[in-house]
Amino acid sequence: MADKMWAGRFKAALDKEADDFNSSIHFDSRMWREDITGSIAHAKMLSKCGIISDADRDAIIAGLEAIYAELEAGTMAIDTDCEDIHMFVEKVLTERIGDAGKRLHTARSRNDQVALDLRMYMRTAAAEVRELATALCRTLTDKAEEYRDTIMPGYTHLQRAQPITFGHHLMAYAMMLLRDIGRIKDAEARLDASPIGCCALAGTTYATDRRFEAELLGFSEICMNSLDGVSDRDFALELMSAFSVMMMHLSRLSEEIILWSSWEFGFVELSDSFTTGSSIMPQKKNSDIAELVRGKTGRVYGDLMSLLTAMKGLPLAYNKDMQEDKEAIFDATDTVKKCLSVFAPMIETMKAKPEAMARAAKRGFINATDLADYMVGKGIPFRTAYKITGELVAYCIDKDCVLEDLTIDEFRKFSDTLDEGLYEAIDLRACVDRRQSEGGTAPVCVDAQIEWVRAKLAQ
Ligand code: ARG
Repeated sequence: MADKMWAGRFKAALDKEADDFNSSIHFDSRMWREDITGSIAHAKMLSKCGIISDADRDAIIAGLEAIYAELEAGTMAIDTDCEDIHMFVEKVLTERIGDAGKRLHTARSRNDQVALDLRMYMRTAAAEVRELATALCRTLTDKAEEYRDTIMPGYTHLQRAQPITFGHHLMAYAMMLLRDIGRIKDAEARLDASPIGCCALAGTTYATDRRFEAELLGFSEICMNSLDGVSDRDFALELMSAFSVMMMHLSRLSEEIILWSSWEFGFVELSDSFTTGSSIMPQKKNSDIAELVRGKTGRVYGDLMSLLTAMKGLPLAYNKDMQEDKEAIFDATDTVKKCLSVFAPMIETMKAKPEAMARAAKRGFINATDLADYMVGKGIPFRTAYKITGELVAYCIDKDCVLEDLTIDEFRKFSDTLDEGLYEAIDLRACVDRRQSEGGTAPVCVDAQIEWVRAKLAQ
């Protein structure tokens, strides 16, 4: 491999297997846009600082722009014999423009170059993920509005607990998504510092202008320590951890959708466009898309874990281990984007089945708390009311009926404070409408939540 850019100090060529093993071009070639854009800014900075001539700068820029255009048009193939995308672009440029091309790598190193490319790539990816998450959050909010009055049992321990509305339940996920978007934004703010000009590790003897170059590339800050700038990948870890938390949320909603779509629950029906059949059981309608999102969550966690683990023992500054960052980062980003893209229309086309929800809400004594609260209103201490209600529930279980089925005489056997007003108190609709504490399940409160999320999304 006499044509390696670093071949000067070597007598023997790199072993073929080792060369393949060492190379990253198969996966880092997707950063060609960032690489070329970064190099154009670098050439501008070098000429502004008098390190290269204006003529060389113009030749470099024209050469890079031509490569960019050809790659964009698909008329140039990326030569996978090159070690990485940075080497490839420099090689083609130099073949085309000669010495000027050889001057491009003055006052930089691949270490700061790759850190820059990755930050630029992740900056775009983060914005795209945020956009998709925002769209999903809007969809959830719209669905919530559609079902603001639809009563369903709310659960704890997967046991029926208290009546809520389906809109309220969906808004819980909208809140989570909103925080996920916030976490991505936070990570984007810290990512917004340019590492270019840190060079290999120690900075450079050339009188460069890192801030000028950063500004050209749309960064508001520069990495203030050159070792740090080339050594850390925390910006990618932060984004991947934000992605992981978001995937955890999507996975929980997926799990609920899978449960709700079962015959056991029957609370929702997914559109045929987001479900699949079985190759043998003709009756089946499976929630594969939701299941896959749940499954892919593990994959995104794995990407985060693999980079965390790759980084944990590395002495400063750059180590080749860090080349392992890219596949993890790209996979996490691709996966999250795909999941969000398919999730929003799946939610949009999902239909609730209010009768099934109402049927489930009827059983399970989810108005028991309300009965106890009613007794409290009659002057009974809550603990006593709680105990009496428990006895009433046990009585109903024996009789295989619900509280609403008992006559007033039966109720009064348990407490003579009870009167006809209790029936209105334990009516499920009334139970929901009365829960008007801020954030509560009453439709008016869910309306306020919807409005709040929409206002946040509009910011
Ligand atoms: N392909 C390398 C990576 O992705 C680029 C940086 C290489 N730097 C070096 N000194 N070997 O990390």
